[in-house]
Amino acid sequence: MEQKDVNGNKCHILLLPCPAQGHINPILQFGKRLASHNLLTTLVNTRFLSNSTKSEPGPVNIECISDGFDSGGMNAAPSRRAYFDRLESVGSETLFGLIESLRSRGRPAHVLVYDPFLPWAMNVAERSGLRSVAFFTQPCAVDTIYRHVWEGRIKVPVTEPVRLPGLPPLEPSDLPSFVTDSDPVVNPDLLPLLVNQHKNLDKADMMLINSIYELEHEEFDWMESRLPLPVKSIGPTVPSTYLDNRIPSDSHYGFNLYTPDTTPYLDWLDSKAPNSVIYVSFGSLSSLSPDQTNEIASGLIATNKSFIWVVRTSELAKLPANFTQENASRGLVVTWCDQLDVLAHVATGCFVTHCGWNSTMEGIALGVPMVGVPQWSDQPMNAKYVEDVWKVGVRAKTYGKDFVRGEEFKRCVEEVMDGERSGKIRENAARWCKLAKDSVSEGGSSDKCIKEFIHQCCK
Ligand code: UDX
Repeated sequence: MEQKDVNGNKCHILLLPCPAQGHINPILQFGKRLASHNLLTTLVNTRFLSNSTKSEPGPVNIECISDGFDSGGMNAAPSRRAYFDRLESVGSETLFGLIESLRSRGRPAHVLVYDPFLPWAMNVAERSGLRSVAFFTQPCAVDTIYRHVWEGRIKVPVTEPVRLPGLPPLEPSDLPSFVTDSDPVVNPDLLPLLVNQHKNLDKADMMLINSIYELEHEEFDWMESRLPLPVKSIGPTVPSTYLDNRIPSDSHYGFNLYTPDTTPYLDWLDSKAPNSVIYVSFGSLSSLSPDQTNEIASGLIATNKSFIWVVRTSELAKLPANFTQENASRGLVVTWCDQLDVLAHVATGCFVTHCGWNSTMEGIALGVPMVGVPQWSDQPMNAKYVEDVWKVGVRAKTYGKDFVRGEEFKRCVEEVMDGERSGKIRENAARWCKLAKDSVSEGGSSDKCIKEFIHQCCK
């Protein structure tokens, strides 16, 4: 499906993520999918991230803009708000400059696919004469909540159960944490970032959501009914080799902000029986308290099962003393892994996850039953859907606000792997896994949406 402009230039799509692992991964994979349709795609990264990571040569080009913190990125900013303010002022100008420079280099851009965490990007697209398309990295259900806040239908903080159009009945504990959390330090910085995703949105050419229509069709239908623009599902953004149950030999599928551990964890998995290993990961940002880390460690030991636990380098000191050495015969602690390789491995029987949306989609797409231990942001709502809507796992019960005890951790893992409901959960997981694969196959719901995007935005 080749599209060219009046001067014969191939349609060129710029992809602008929020500079964080969970946002770069899906937009980059979407770019790869577009490249397979013979379109020119370019990931726009910050100078800091580009200089501090090794990018794999692939079908998606890489260009840089400045976030105003070229030598330290987000960690160099005095606060999140200060970071995003500066990213807006410096990023707008450098993005405009990049678009001009691409034009003068004979590679004019036609479409800007932007992360709505950066709503100012659509003004740059407008100023530069590009089409603009918002790429939402969280599920439609969560986007629906923020739409309700944006339209004034929900007053924050929510303290009572809610019944809202397009959504199942929800308890406050099921909602994104920023909507219920009255923490004065977190909310002033982060709630506006999430709600302002809807700022300018009506002026965009299209809204893309990294999800699958069938997973949340009522939410998609509601969103489409509220907006004057097409709303399209384009997920899962998991490379098709994994959906075909093949772990590619060169498994560098993304843009890693963390260096993968050199432990030969795939060889180790090869030595384990099918569905016998617990994989535990809390994504790229979550930071557990030392007490919570300790409870998970004791819960893991109590299951008596093999495990791989991702504990990022910055979190290692929270592990109980000698944990790694004492459990070496049945468990591995790695500082970062190629998560899709682990999830796609036949030995992996359970995914203990914080329910970040990428991890949740990856678990669904690869058919791995899950235990949700949500931490913040969209994660409680994703965990609610995992347990009650898609029924592909269970959500750990908390003691107090968000503390999960070791016994509860063990109970959940056993329920998912061997308990009464485990058969049904595995059956559901296999069903959604097939649906995920079908959705991006020729004629599937996401495949059709991707083709509509190309047809409408690259003409
Ligand atoms: C953040 C938010 O926390 C999340 O709730 C939101 O939906 C997206 O942005 P993060 O916490 O990093 O993301 O979680 P997640 O969305 O799951 O993304 C993590 C990504 O890192 C996944 O694509 C996962 O495959 C990858 N990963 C994680 C690895 O490749 N290796 C690891 O060892 C751990």
